[in-house]
Amino acid sequence: MSKLIKLFTYLLAGIVGLALIATIAIYLLSERKINQLYSAPTDAIAIPSDAASIERGKYLASAVSVCVDCHGANMAGGVVVDDPALGRIVAPNLTKGNQGIGGQRSDADLVRVIRYGITKEGKSVRVMPSDDYYHLSDKDLGALVAYVRSLPATDSNLPAITMGPLGRALTAFGQLDIYVADRIDPKKPRQKDAETLAALDKGKYLADISGCTGCHGPGLSGGQIPGTPPDYPKSSNLTPSGNLGKWSEADFIATIRSGKTPEGKTLVDEMPWKNYRNMSDDELKAIYLYLKSVPARSTGSR
Ligand code: HEC
Ligand code: HEC
Repeated sequence: MSKLIKLFTYLLAGIVGLALIATIAIYLLSERKINQLYSAPTDAIAIPSDAASIERGKYLASAVSVCVDCHGANMAGGVVVDDPALGRIVAPNLTKGNQGIGGQRSDADLVRVIRYGITKEGKSVRVMPSDDYYHLSDKDLGALVAYVRSLPATDSNLPAITMGPLGRALTAFGQLDIYVADRIDPKKPRQKDAETLAALDKGKYLADISGCTGCHGPGLSGGQIPGTPPDYPKSSNLTPSGNLGKWSEADFIATIRSGKTPEGKTLVDEMPWKNYRNMSDDELKAIYLYLKSVPARSTGSR
């Protein structure tokens, strides 16, 4: 009897020991990924200070590239994801207020994180769609930085970023697609000057910098959004084989402005229509033209 108990104790100790080793290994591997350092070219971008450029930056931040969706309407930060298993992702306060990082970032730091997804510390930004912002022209990027610089100081009381046990395990095994710098190839061509584009090219430019292609996929066919949990809403097929194939330009604009589709569906908040509804008619028309021009794809083929 006592022999059996002894054997059982050894077995239990073995299992606990293995679990401990696995936990430590997952912790160390995930820390290594989180702290991985990246380098990027230093781009000389002119940062304007005139009122018109700051206004353009504000428009981009609130209606097009929708920084406000995560950083909040006043850009004083916000909780993006809070999941006990995956973790809590928080977008920092970008102003110079209490807890704000506005006073601790140079223009070059802001350019690097928006365009290449690399923080001041040299790590990959998590979740923030810099792979979409990579497409911003120098002029629009300069306007965005000018706007961030102009923000009035606002205090915040944000919790810290934490990684949950599942978030750590998925990170350790390279299965958590939130390390955005990994998705960015600094050699990929991008729009140099977006001001003189014809409507169709302008539509493509806008679909890239506003994140339509980030969530709906490079081929716009919808499906699971990278880095989101399995129960997160799937994005819709925006190619001509989806509902949009049947919509008129007016239907499309009304959908973005009202959050209601011609089929009578109310769009979920994960689709940032409440920000996009402030886009100008001209820009929405250009996006519509572009969406109508892409090849039809079956839903979820990205
Ligand atoms: C989908 C959510 C999301 C959107 C949209 C977003 N961000 Fe972020 N941003 C984050 C998160 C989360 C962090 C912190 C990530 C981390 O530290 O890993 C962050 C960090 C930052 C930082 C700090 C980087 C550093 O050096 O620490 C800046 C600056 C920033 N964002 C600017 C912007 C601007 C400008 C836009 C719009 C063009 C934008 N963000 C859009 C989520 C977002
Ligand atoms: C953060 C992710 C995200 C971004 C960015 C995003 N979408 Fe969506 N979109 C969604 C999700 C999720 C749905 C599904 C909504 C639902 O089922 O209620 C959706 C649905 C739609 C629909 C409804 C289609 C239908 O057949 O009912 C349209 C239209 C649409 N998006 C257009 C756009 C455009 C245009 C852009 C860029 C300007 C864009 N989306 C950017 C997540 C996103």
